[in-house]
Amino acid sequence: MADDFDIIVIGSGPGGYVCAIRAAQLGLRVACIDKRGTHGGTCLNVGCIPSKALLHASETYSQAAHANHMGIQFGTPKIDMPALMKYKQKTIDGNVQGIDFLFKKNKIEAMHGAGELIAPDRVKVALLDGGERILQTKYIVIATGSDIAPLAGVEIDEQRIVSSTGALDFDSVPKSLLIVGGGVIGLELGSVWARLGTEVTVVEFLDHIIAGADADIAKQFQTVLTKQGLRFLLGRKVTNIETLKASAKVTIAPAQNQNEAGQNEAGQKGANEAGETLSAERVLVAIGRRPYTAGLGLENVGVQLDAQGRVETDKHFKTNIDNIYAIGDVIAGPMLAHKAEDEGIAVAEILVGQAGHVNYDVIPNVIYTAPEVAWVGKTEAELKSANIAYKVGTFPFMANGRAKVNGTVEGFVKTLADANTDRILGVHILGPEAGNMIGEAAVAMEFGASADDIARTCHAHPTLSEALKESALAVAARAIHM
Ligand code: FAD
Ligand code: NAI
Repeated sequence: MADDFDIIVIGSGPGGYVCAIRAAQLGLRVACIDKRGTHGGTCLNVGCIPSKALLHASETYSQAAHANHMGIQFGTPKIDMPALMKYKQKTIDGNVQGIDFLFKKNKIEAMHGAGELIAPDRVKVALLDGGERILQTKYIVIATGSDIAPLAGVEIDEQRIVSSTGALDFDSVPKSLLIVGGGVIGLELGSVWARLGTEVTVVEFLDHIIAGADADIAKQFQTVLTKQGLRFLLGRKVTNIETLKASAKVTIAPAQNQNEAGQNEAGQKGANEAGETLSAERVLVAIGRRPYTAGLGLENVGVQLDAQGRVETDKHFKTNIDNIYAIGDVIAGPMLAHKAEDEGIAVAEILVGQAGHVNYDVIPNVIYTAPEVAWVGKTEAELKSANIAYKVGTFPFMANGRAKVNGTVEGFVKTLADANTDRILGVHILGPEAGNMIGEAAVAMEFGASADDIARTCHAHPTLSEALKESALAVAARAIHM
């Protein structure tokens, strides 16, 4: 039987749709299937895009409320929830329509339906609008992404107890919101609702927020968010959530990392052993995401999963089955849209014999709060545990002219460089526009730059990026404005 396609990509999130486009650019016949009614995956439909829409809108609201000191008076800003949600939906629609356009432009056969592997070279598609198709192909790329990690014993009804999807779609501003998990979702969506007037409490298992970030950044970030009204209960775990008529009753207990005085490292008194209860109008469960492979038929063809349920691949994204590949959230590595995209490009290039590659040492992380948090490369803790000698240069936004003008002086830049070679090993930023600024650090690291290379590069004045230059100067104790 002749192949219908060279590649069938299952899942049209940032991994899948980018892979499909790159493969089509390289001259392959491509189909991309997604079981949602719209393409773009988690990222465009219920992730990156809607969360950034609400972050942008709520930040604008907050800025309008605090513009008096510049001589601008708006009166008291008001929230029109239906209009806010309409704006959010418009940002989603614009982006998913963009994918439809790109699929057409690149002559990719796009389908809406659930894909199931029925042989190593065949996929059955249960079409969303009825009927099914059996497709023959040379290669299959699994890009089925991830789903919300559940909290044991808790049912997410997306009303009282919500996941990120429900927290992006409230019909009114909740009076109170308890968030389980002080990670990226908890802090981004906690910021959104706190800005709009919700009392936000974050319960985090660890003794610090944003696991994986630089410890100094995480600490100062928590202070900044606390000033913005978020309340943190660290070193605690939620053991039960009871849904009541107009609220939820949440039982929390100490996690194991309490010291003998019953205090966690942040110095807060822990919940007693019997647990304490809190009441909230809504509860957001944001304790991570897990790879999504349900209904994909991996067992039909024997594709192996690892111990965490991720599709196992080699360094070239190939599974244990020769012509089946996997990318994005469904495989190992950070669950980030840009990581999935770069893997999508790499795998398409590998399939036509090119040297597709992703540098996992230089994947930026950004938390889109205000101020933002962004980092790339190693943290101090990682360098210490790897026994790598390093130098540190830090520079506060308080000493940056543009940040002072804008009134966004919270935070700092930290540059970590190899003690012997001066090569940049990591850059960590808490501050305004950190997400845009980290791009410069990523490019520098890709080119193997030293801290001195950044320090000697002319940065425009007055810009926030001068803080990065100054932190690179500070590595050799020669920052000018400090
Ligand atoms: P996904 O985007 O999850 O797409 C997989 C697609 O596969 C889905 O549409 C699914 O319907 C489909 N699918 C699954 N099984 C089948 C099947 N059998 N047949 C057909 N289709 C199937 N990352 C960032 O980098 N920046 C951010 O700002 C950011 N914000 C986020 C905010 C939230 C609230 C959430 C939840 C996530 C956020 N992420 C962010 C993470 C980001 O969304 C993911 O890392 C990214 O979407 C992963 O891309 P992917 O292509 O691997 O999978
Ligand atoms: P996360 O992994 O970032 O954070 C989850 C937090 O929950 C951790 O700090 C963990 O210690 C804590 N936790 C786990 N179990 C707990 C329990 N029982 N009680 C209390 N705390 C508990 O996961 P999150 O925030 O759900 O986000 C999932 C993923 O989505 C992220 O890891 C990221 O990959 C992606 N994402 C990325 C964004 C970005 O790039 N800006 C934005 C939103 C999501």
